[in-house]
Amino acid sequence: MKILITGGAGFIGSHLAAYFINDNEVFILDNLSTGHRSNVDFIDDAHFIEEDVMHKSFVTELIKQKQFDIVIHLAAVVSVVETINNPINSQSINIDSTLNLLEANRQYNAKLKKFIFASSAAVYGNTDELPKQIETFIDPESPYAIEKYAGEQYAKLYNKLYDLPTTALRFFNVYGPRQDPSSPYSGVLSIMDKKFKNDEPFTFFGDGEQTRDFVYIKDLVQAVAIVIDNEASNGKIYNLATGTQISLLQIFEKFKLIYNKSISYQFAEPRSGDIKHSCAEIKGLEALGFKPQYDIVSGLTEYINYSKTDK
Ligand SMILES: NC(=O)c1ccc[n+]([C@@H]2O[C@H](COP(=O)([O-])OP(=O)(O)OC[C@H]3O[C@@H](n4cnc5c(N)ncnc54)[C@H](O)[C@@H]3O)[C@@H](O)[C@H]2O)c1
Repeated sequence: MKILITGGAGFIGSHLAAYFINDNEVFILDNLSTGHRSNVDFIDDAHFIEEDVMHKSFVTELIKQKQFDIVIHLAAVVSVVETINNPINSQSINIDSTLNLLEANRQYNAKLKKFIFASSAAVYGNTDELPKQIETFIDPESPYAIEKYAGEQYAKLYNKLYDLPTTALRFFNVYGPRQDPSSPYSGVLSIMDKKFKNDEPFTFFGDGEQTRDFVYIKDLVQAVAIVIDNEASNGKIYNLATGTQISLLQIFEKFKLIYNKSISYQFAEPRSGDIKHSCAEIKGLEALGFKPQYDIVSGLTEYINYSKTDK
């Protein structure tokens, strides 16, 4: 199959590309704003398109010419803070380019078998209800969350109105190799890993009791492959997570065990907008055959062993 991954040079996209390259022709479209060409050095230059997903005419022409079987749309402003600082710009990338991609496929790509949109647990906001269910009341707290919600709803609507085979996945806290720890707003596990590796103090924002549903990157890849193979997922939205929650303090203890050492830590004021508890209901994906293969210990162990040798 011919697959296009927008944002394919980033953390999640590079793992999807590495998985699908075995049996498929994989193209990546990425402007390298947060991703790295080196993440996907197994993709040759003919299949790596360095371009902005907002370049509408280019993207439309690409869809027209290549007739992809699968489009996985990940390219986005991924930093919540950046969307708060610059909501106009982020809505162009996160909503307009999604709509344009959907429209280009509707008009020019009769071969499309699946369009996957990367949504986020952020859409739920700070609602109390746990576990988070797709039908739950949602309460977006940032432009990022609204933009992700708009993208997934457009994907759903394009199935309803035009029968486009779309699926949206609300990713919870994904972790694994190649997640970039450079920003204070990066995935918390990549930051904790960097601190342990470099023997630097770690800062908990709040009391460290906040919980998250951390999903290992290989389980995310498994879920995407299942959704691609399953027509019953057309027009649907799913939580992509493990269905379990763990606190940051507990995670810190796991790091101590795996690294066989400790580092100092401190507590700072909670960050505004940070949610207290997060955990997903994953019945929807389970019904399609998804079963997380990694619990937090096996996922962290694999991740940390990789990162020890990587840098
Ligand atoms: N990592 C998580 O835990 C998580 C959770 C929820 C949702 N998501 C979503 O998953 C997707 C992938 O996230 P990630 O963690 O791999 O982030 P990432 O920053 O590693 O990857 C994003 C990729 O998109 C590219 N990109 C950004 N703007 C672009 C543009 N205008 N044109 C072309 N390419 C562009 C970047 O260069 C990068 O390679 C995003 O849509 C993100 O919102 C991630």
